[in-house]
Amino acid sequence: MWTLDLQLTYFDVHNPREMVIHSTNPIEFFSGVSTIAMELLETRALFRRAPYTLGHRYPTERRMDQHRLQSSGRLSWALVSASVFFRQRRRLRNPRALPIEESLVADPWRRGFEAAPETHPVMLEAIEGEIPSDLVGTIYRNSAGRLRIGASEYEHWFDGDGFVSALSVDGVQQKAAFASRFVRTPRFVAQEKPGAFARAQEGLGMASVGAWTPADNGDFFSNVFRLATNPANTSVLWWGDRLLALCEGGLPYRLDPGTLETLGEDLFKDRSISESGVSFFSAHPKRDPTTGELFNIGLTISVPQAIEVYCCSATGELLQRAKVPLKEFTFVHDFAITEKYIVLIMPPWVCPVDGLLQSLWEGGLGQKFGWQEELGTRCVLLKRSDLSTVPWHMTLANLEGTCSQLR
Ligand SMILES: [Fe+2]
Repeated sequence: MWTLDLQLTYFDVHNPREMVIHSTNPIEFFSGVSTIAMELLETRALFRRAPYTLGHRYPTERRMDQHRLQSSGRLSWALVSASVFFRQRRRLRNPRALPIEESLVADPWRRGFEAAPETHPVMLEAIEGEIPSDLVGTIYRNSAGRLRIGASEYEHWFDGDGFVSALSVDGVQQKAAFASRFVRTPRFVAQEKPGAFARAQEGLGMASVGAWTPADNGDFFSNVFRLATNPANTSVLWWGDRLLALCEGGLPYRLDPGTLETLGEDLFKDRSISESGVSFFSAHPKRDPTTGELFNIGLTISVPQAIEVYCCSATGELLQRAKVPLKEFTFVHDFAITEKYIVLIMPPWVCPVDGLLQSLWEGGLGQKFGWQEELGTRCVLLKRSDLSTVPWHMTLANLEGTCSQLR
């Protein structure tokens, strides 16, 4: 078993010093792919871990199939349907069991992408140095904690199951504790059922449709008219005394801040999920450090396509919302706020209509997106005061260029 001691390296910007905490028992922790660099309360702390390398895991022919499928997105319906039929039949006859164990021996770094076991809250002992007395608080992290089950793997780590970890440090009491747990999304619960888990272990695929991963290795009947599920795997938000696990592809899940138990979907404090009418709530909200207001965006499934913008109170209530229409089905991942404006960045990363429809019978919506450079990158401004769109926007010729024109 490959394990990693919990190690915290602390840098005080005014008084450089270092403290190391090792767990009394080896813990596999912080599985996932995000780098860890966070602010802990008012003290800057940097958490380091084993040097993971980002990149594709286990290249497979199946992935190459999907690249070809993406390029076939513009073929006629008949050709696509025939292609899908024969591809599914071939996959079902020949499920590919990957030599994963062999690859782990050959490339030990791959274990950084293996699933971490859940850890019930455990006390940690500082065996070297001491915890700074002004370091008190809990840092929560979220990432894709499970990328495969047996011989079945998610097609992209964006589909990995959300896994939240909590490191609590109390420099006054000289105590530290650690806990980690998967977010109990419906897709995680479905995957844990004995039959579904056994099928995945045998290489017969995942139980639910992911944004990049079709269910049951692409079986037609397992994917038709099923939408991508939310893995709740991207970030965490402490908002109005609530701990939320976020992902762009769905609504937040509320967690118990102590036990990390999943309490269910949750969003605004002043209205229920059904009342809010929100489908997606991005994993990258922005908080105004002066007013405490929280801003976020979310894709809406509507015709015409639109991005919804939310302005919320510091305590969790929805204050204002506005829709920004999209010309194409664009993946708008992030945005920025200034003192007066909200800046939306709309890259030409779009899903054509036929690709969108195709995803209804063959899972993997994320695979249908493509870069259409001729569309350019658009920036849209909204006034923070009333979320009205400023009658001005610009396009960027490409990501490396600067503003090329105003219109
Ligand atoms: Fe993201």
